[in-house]
Amino acid sequence: MILTHSTAETYREECTPVLETERLVLRAPRIEDAKAVAALANDRRVAENTLRIPHPYTFADAMQWISAANTRPGERTFVILREDDVVGACGFDLREGPEPELGYWIGAPYWSQDYATEAAKAVVDYAFSAESHAALRAGARVTNPASRRVLEKCGFQWDGVELIRIQSLKASVPSDRFMLTRENWLATRQRQAERAAR
Ligand SMILES: CC(C)(COP(=O)(O)OP(=O)(O)OC[C@H]1O[C@@H](n2cnc3c(N)ncnc32)[C@H](O)[C@@H]1OP(=O)(O)O)[C@@H](O)C(=O)NCCC(=O)NCCS
Repeated sequence: MILTHSTAETYREECTPVLETERLVLRAPRIEDAKAVAALANDRRVAENTLRIPHPYTFADAMQWISAANTRPGERTFVILREDDVVGACGFDLREGPEPELGYWIGAPYWSQDYATEAAKAVVDYAFSAESHAALRAGARVTNPASRRVLEKCGFQWDGVELIRIQSLKASVPSDRFMLTRENWLATRQRQAERAAR
């Protein structure tokens, strides 16, 4: 069957769940998100802390990202919305190894409002509760304490340091590696539920 562009997008949207948190909605990226995605992702601080975001980042880059989103086996890519405004993106895929690799970015105007943590927790919960993964992995440049903190708040544990290639830098840089096993995810959820009940 040959899918037209819009039916392919609709099909992928139907396969990607909509995740709702207290303040955020996470759903598959749509063509109409391209302008907002391009405006937020065209930021050197975002590009230099993520694997594959180029800099500068144009409307065409956003369109390409949206067209390719959720087309690879095992990939779940979401845009993060706050009251219908795109604030960033989050997701996981299998491009870095056998276990899904979590990634996220938040546009600078929205930093330090706990959005990355809230979105990442929702995606982690989805990955473990709706899919059968034994563990998730993630990385943060050693110069990126905010991202390390997000991972810690999600229950990830430090797992070593590796060189990772950053597309926008055309170079490899040291990155802290983290892992969250299903067992530790359950324990973290339990601890957070107990704390919330106090
Ligand atoms: C890293 C990033 C996702 C954080 O997004 P955010 O929505 O601001 O994150 P949150 O508000 O959920 O949490 C940030 C945490 O880091 C802490 N933090 C922020 N800057 C920090 C710094 N310089 N040193 C130490 N901790 C810092 C915050 O205090 C907060 O922790 P707390 O809740 O314990 O106080 C965002 O800055 C970003 O997108 N950066 C560029 C792309 C990127 O780094 N992506 C991650 C790839 S690994």
